[in-house]
Amino acid sequence: MGSPGAAGSSGMGSMMGGMMDGEGEHGGGSRRPFFSQLLTVPTLDAEARRKLAAQADTRIEAGLATITEATAAGTHAATAAARLDAARRLREGVDQFSSGAAAQAALNGAQPPEETAISWFREQLRMEPLGYDESLRWFGVSPSHLLLMLFLGLVSATLIGLQLSRLARIKKIVSTGPAGPGPVKAQEPLAAPAAPKLAAPVENRLEALAPSNAPPTAGASLRKPKSWTGQLRIVQIIRETPTVRTFRLADPAADRLPFDFLPGQFLQVEVEPEAGKPGRRSYTIASSPTQRAYVELTVKREEQGAVSRHLHDSVSVGDLVKVTGPFGAFTFTGTDADSIVLIAGGVGITPMMSVLRYLTDTAWAGDIFFIYGARSTEEFVFRDEIERLVQRFANLHVIAAMEHSPGTVWMGPTGPITKEMLTGAVPDIARRRIQLCGPPGMMAAMRKELAELGVPEAQLFTEAFGPASLPIDAGELEVKPAPARQPPSPSVAAATITFSVSGISAALPADQTVLEAAEDAGVEIPYACRVGECGVCVIKLLAGDVTMDVESGLAASDKANGYILACQAKSTGQPLVVEA
Ligand SMILES: Cc1cc2nc3c(=O)[nH]c(=O)nc-3n(C[C@H](O)[C@H](O)[C@H](O)COP(=O)(O)OP(=O)(O)OC[C@H]3O[C@@H](n4cnc5c(N)ncnc54)[C@H](O)[C@@H]3O)c2cc1C
Ligand code: FES
Repeated sequence: MGSPGAAGSSGMGSMMGGMMDGEGEHGGGSRRPFFSQLLTVPTLDAEARRKLAAQADTRIEAGLATITEATAAGTHAATAAARLDAARRLREGVDQFSSGAAAQAALNGAQPPEETAISWFREQLRMEPLGYDESLRWFGVSPSHLLLMLFLGLVSATLIGLQLSRLARIKKIVSTGPAGPGPVKAQEPLAAPAAPKLAAPVENRLEALAPSNAPPTAGASLRKPKSWTGQLRIVQIIRETPTVRTFRLADPAADRLPFDFLPGQFLQVEVEPEAGKPGRRSYTIASSPTQRAYVELTVKREEQGAVSRHLHDSVSVGDLVKVTGPFGAFTFTGTDADSIVLIAGGVGITPMMSVLRYLTDTAWAGDIFFIYGARSTEEFVFRDEIERLVQRFANLHVIAAMEHSPGTVWMGPTGPITKEMLTGAVPDIARRRIQLCGPPGMMAAMRKELAELGVPEAQLFTEAFGPASLPIDAGELEVKPAPARQPPSPSVAAATITFSVSGISAALPADQTVLEAAEDAGVEIPYACRVGECGVCVIKLLAGDVTMDVESGLAASDKANGYILACQAKSTGQPLVVEA
């Protein structure tokens, strides 16, 4: 801030000089600079105020004298240098005069001392005076400050709003629970979907149903939120094992998926093999919903399988694939239990992987017991990733059993998953929620073992990857004991069925399901498992009566509302009318 010795010199020192002169220069006992005394006016005692007032008078007088002298010198100056010198002295005089006047103003209380000092200082620096009209101040805040604060407040409010809506959206996506799985409201397709040859509008398709063995819940009803149909592009194909490949699919028109899904849900994929008619199969989304840019379907190549073989052998990166979905309620988001036991065999690992990826992505705190059975180490799908996750997450406990591992090193258990393995790996298994998916034989064995371990049916959730192309005996899957089949009455062979939406009528032989009759008549009804488990083929029965061997995919309330499973429904002899 300059020094007393700088007073009278040019530049900043000159400007500050008038205020910074020490008391010694002007007489008096205090060595404090005149300028700083101004800032402390309210705290000065009477004696100090008197001295300051005297100094102010002296400055005013000295300033006036200097101004008078400089004016006279300037009037008579003969050279430019003399005129400049007169101007300098004139300025000094004005500075002295105004510092004295400022001090008087501060002492008289006409202006707050700090403001006096600052105004004077700004004036010296040729800065704009502080032009606020006090009446415009609001709680001492100037209008510009107020505007800035308002702007910052608005920005903060917008950011908070965005964050809240994001949280609400995440909550909505994961809000599934025992009171009924929350439907995933699919977004409108970003790209115009290829016109589906569907009798029932896509909007009317079922998106999520109660788990196959979940107890029907009060108020659980058939929901018909919009599911999404459209084409996704294959952006990557990953070889997982000699027979399993992962297909990464993304929206060709956007950097974000056009639908939401829950961990464990599946898509229906439609392909058109070169030879043969288009085939539709269900494939579970193995990736996590936290990944919004793509979905991954992990598919096992069936030697004689129409669709899986086509996907493995004929589909390349860049190809478009038609998908519909998501469907299914074999989901787990961490909200329904404080721990989870995931038991998978072979390619049945896909829904478990989505759950595992989701729970670890979101740092879920509960214990995750991951039990996996494979034919051999070669067929251990996602082995590297699971090993990595085990290293990183202390709450993840994995046990894998290989049926045989010829020519490979496997230090873990061999053979099928046993009761001893389960009890050794999962403490207190009977009180935990369990999800099970695998080949029919393995699932049947697991069900038996878990029952023997005291696991209540209500805690066991299953998904069967039934071969969709073949009408198979549900009893063979041993997913759930099928109710005794009611033989059709001999008098009912010649029933008819009318599909109300497409306006087509056809014969319905006694041993044919509504789904089979629809396929024969060219009416499309979406389906997945064909064994009455998934509930994807649900349609409304408008007239007539049907029998169903398996009804697991149908909530009790839906049945009461007249819905049937097309893959199971057979006529009792009366003409049927269904909404398809
Ligand atoms: C909800 C759900 C989710 C699924 N998720 C997955 C998943 O994530 N990954 C996965 O790989 N699969 C999954 N599947 C299974 C998948 O949908 C297909 O069923 C599977 O890929 C076989 O289809 P495909 O067309 O290749 O075989 P299909 O042509 O349907 O044949 C099925 C099986 O029958 C055999 N077969 C076919 N024709 C005959 C015949 N004439 N005589 C005797 N045998 C025959 C085939 O060898 C094959 O083993 C899921 C199924 C469901 C219901
Ligand atoms: S197709 Fe799964 S219940 Fe009918």
